[in-house]
Amino acid sequence: MLRLLIGGLVSVMVLSACSRDEYNPAHDYFSFANNDQFVTRHLELELWVDFDRQTLAGSAALHMERLDPAATIIVLDSRGLEIGDIGVAAEGSKVKPVTFEVGQTDPVKGEAIRIQLPAGFKHESAFLLKIEYQTGPDASALMWLPPELTAGGKHPFMFTQSQAIHARSWVPLQDTPAVRMSFDAIIHTPPDLMALMSADNDPLAPRSGEYHFSMPQPIPSYLLALAVGNVWFQSFGEDTGVYAEPEVLPAAAWEFTDTQAMLDAAEGLYGPYQWGRYDLLILPPSFPYGGMENPRLSFITPTVLAGDRSLVSLVAHELAHSWSGNLVSNATWRDIWLNEGTTSYLESRLMEVLYGRERADEERLLSYQGLLEKLQTVETEMQALAPVFQFGDPDIGQDGLEYSKGQLMLETLEAAFGRDKFDEYLARYFEHFEFQAITSEQFLDFIDARLLQKYPGRYSRAQIAQWLYQPGIPDGVVAPTSSSLEQAVAMAAAWSSGELAVAELPVENWSPKAMVAFINALRADLSEQQLKELDQSLRLSTTGNVEIARAWFIQVATRRYRPAYGEMSAFLKRYGRTWLIKPVYAALVSNGEDSTLALAIFDKARAVYHPITVAAISSLSWSSGQ
Ligand code: BES
Ligand code: ZN
Repeated sequence: MLRLLIGGLVSVMVLSACSRDEYNPAHDYFSFANNDQFVTRHLELELWVDFDRQTLAGSAALHMERLDPAATIIVLDSRGLEIGDIGVAAEGSKVKPVTFEVGQTDPVKGEAIRIQLPAGFKHESAFLLKIEYQTGPDASALMWLPPELTAGGKHPFMFTQSQAIHARSWVPLQDTPAVRMSFDAIIHTPPDLMALMSADNDPLAPRSGEYHFSMPQPIPSYLLALAVGNVWFQSFGEDTGVYAEPEVLPAAAWEFTDTQAMLDAAEGLYGPYQWGRYDLLILPPSFPYGGMENPRLSFITPTVLAGDRSLVSLVAHELAHSWSGNLVSNATWRDIWLNEGTTSYLESRLMEVLYGRERADEERLLSYQGLLEKLQTVETEMQALAPVFQFGDPDIGQDGLEYSKGQLMLETLEAAFGRDKFDEYLARYFEHFEFQAITSEQFLDFIDARLLQKYPGRYSRAQIAQWLYQPGIPDGVVAPTSSSLEQAVAMAAAWSSGELAVAELPVENWSPKAMVAFINALRADLSEQQLKELDQSLRLSTTGNVEIARAWFIQVATRRYRPAYGEMSAFLKRYGRTWLIKPVYAALVSNGEDSTLALAIFDKARAVYHPITVAAISSLSWSSGQ
């Protein structure tokens, strides 16, 4: 009862502390941690991976430092964890049990753990906090896959997804990007399976069921990652390689063979890669994202194995996060554009170095078109790059607008200052803030001092502030152009109106992006006969390129083109990557007829989806179409 009362009181206090006027841009509203009083410097994990019970169990020892000598209560984040004993020790001495309390569940943040430091600790500034625990049954970071949902079909697979605030569902810690820690870990797995972490993986480690990791560079909690499965390694070059199930490994090694060249290009532009090795891990199709930039080991969806290297911009993106995000991180979830917008910009620069201007321009234009669409749906208050963001779900946040709007701002700055000056500025930015988390205001002060004032008269602080604090796109922005995409769009109009036959479309010259632009630009009033002709001659419903399939199935669902419903529903049941499937569900739900069908598909497909994907699909306005 006391616990309930305290938890309730605290949430009321937090709620009332959040009026708009009092919004503190440097405060992380999505964490309970009192990191102004205590900070974690290092984490020691020891976990047993139990596939039968679907739990991780063991201990987390946090090496903490007290910043405020008067503070005696440490508040950690958790979600659904079953906490056993908690003890503290001055560095080097024996751990002694302490009293603690787990607060009431907040639907977004989970439960605060409040730990009372014993009286004897008053004068210690550094100490160890050891927590015995196991994960709960619905841990939001964890996906447990039975063998049938893996490529090999023989071994189970598990993986974590900590961003944005899911690390707390598998480790009790200060789950805020403002705190960075190094870590060591011992992971116990069933024999034969390999464990990998966002750390110093050893491809030659004997499959003994016990794996030791060390991550000397300090990282924020959202980059803590673990995967366990039947995975093997193939090298690309000196510092890069790929882990995957053996059934997928040859295809992955072929598809991503340019990874080493991407890393070299990124170092040339933005300064040294600070993390040692850079490897990829190909996950099963349930992985909820395209990719996740876990340091030293990006997690990658298998849906980008298109067989023609056409979707490798995803690797450029996750690699670029090694600078924008992992090296210089967002201070709070409101500053996520610093990670995703900057990374989208870097991604397109890397694509240009590797594959040339035309391909990079195609991707830039698609990103810009995506931005124009988002500006129609994202509420005005969330359209600022640095909005007031204190409620809601940080996984959804600005619905991806921060990627394309952030990219467009940086492209605008590049045009204003010229590539050389802007590249030089970015390299200094990464160097200046390395291994720190920063707010959008720190970004603004830095760019003002190091770029705007250095080359006066080209772009003003007020203009940047407009991107950061106002909705929409500022005036005077030069939109990206791509002649190949524009041609495909013109062809869509010509074909839609009957001026051009399907056979006359020069599809063999089109890149997959051009095909996507063509599909997106189809006229709204096409007949079923026209759709059929298109589908049959371009084989859209059975394409092996998931970006084309996504674009096509959005059209199928929006227009209720029923001959393709079988393939569409198979697509929805095959992949858990939210970006691929959520818009198709959304189109079904909003076409006025298919909410029930969408629910039935969702119900069957759920077993394939990660809890984060389930939450994202559930968040659609299911009732609107009924
Ligand atoms: N860091 C993100 C994934 C993410 C974002 C996880 C927000 C949780 C909350 C990752 O780098 C990313 O952006 N992935 C994209 C692919 C990218 C090429 C746009 C994705 O998964 O779609
Ligand atoms: Zn990203």
